[in-house]
Amino acid sequence: MNILMIGAGSMSEALVKGWIDSGISPQTITMTNRADRARLFALAEQYGVRTTTDEQIDRFDVIVLAMQPDGVLEYIKQHRWTDQLLISVAAHITPVEIEAHVTCGAVCAMPNTPVAFRTGMTGLWFGDHVSDIKKRQATTLFERVGETVETDASTMPYLMAAAGCSPAFFYEIVGAMTPVLTKAGFNESAARRIIAQAMKGSAELLLHEERPTAELIQDVAAPGGPTDRGVHVLREHQLAEAMHAALMESAREDV
Ligand SMILES: NC(=O)c1ccc[n+]([C@@H]2O[C@H](COP(=O)([O-])OP(=O)(O)OC[C@H]3O[C@@H](n4cnc5c(N)ncnc54)[C@H](OP(=O)(O)O)[C@@H]3O)[C@@H](O)[C@H]2O)c1
Repeated sequence: MNILMIGAGSMSEALVKGWIDSGISPQTITMTNRADRARLFALAEQYGVRTTTDEQIDRFDVIVLAMQPDGVLEYIKQHRWTDQLLISVAAHITPVEIEAHVTCGAVCAMPNTPVAFRTGMTGLWFGDHVSDIKKRQATTLFERVGETVETDASTMPYLMAAAGCSPAFFYEIVGAMTPVLTKAGFNESAARRIIAQAMKGSAELLLHEERPTAELIQDVAAPGGPTDRGVHVLREHQLAEAMHAALMESAREDV
């Protein structure tokens, strides 16, 4: 299986890193971009992937469109498509828009950057012309770097907000928590590790639990104890409303 990555930015790199760590040979991955040759050279050095500045798309089995969304349809129209597995990771581009110009079918995937460490969450929206074999191939590819969920026109914006955008939301929370620890005497790196490990552990527990989050909070927060008092402060400051509003804003399509 030969994979061509169109675009060599942060999302493309995260996928390539995760796929190589999952056992895909770097020599079967080719990356390209539009202008930044130094970036391509650096990626080839770091990961051992191939690079090209003159891609011949019919020589690849899988093509991943990982450029900015505004370039996707233009790129699609400029090339001749045969029977490749065509995957776009661009936000707000739909399979219908792509399939208007190709006969091979289109998969719109929405991964997030944790795919670099094979802990990604990827939404997969299959176009009407994607065969079952290609659906399986695309799902297997993204399962190598995390979990997948099938999405459609109505769920994709919310998957994107909750999985694609939320790493930034979590970093915002970490950024707010870190100074409290550094002021207490931890260095920056230790403070960050403490918070990140606590988040990772909590996420791991959540993935093994079915009970509502309110009950999980009760497990940790004895009435009147430090956790309970902290949770009250979060509620007074309306964290839940802020998170809800952030997700709704990120999911908006009319901007
Ligand atoms: N970052 C995320 O967390 C995330 C999550 C989910 C989905 N996405 C989607 O992933 C895509 C890429 O995001 P990103 O954050 O990686 O962006 P980025 O860092 O800006 O990278 C975009 C890359 O695309 C290249 N490119 C643009 N037009 C091209 C063309 N016509 N042919 C070949 N290469 C082209 C750019 O090359 P030059 O620099 O040479 O112009 C650059 O390497 C976006 O569509 C975004 O919606 C991103």
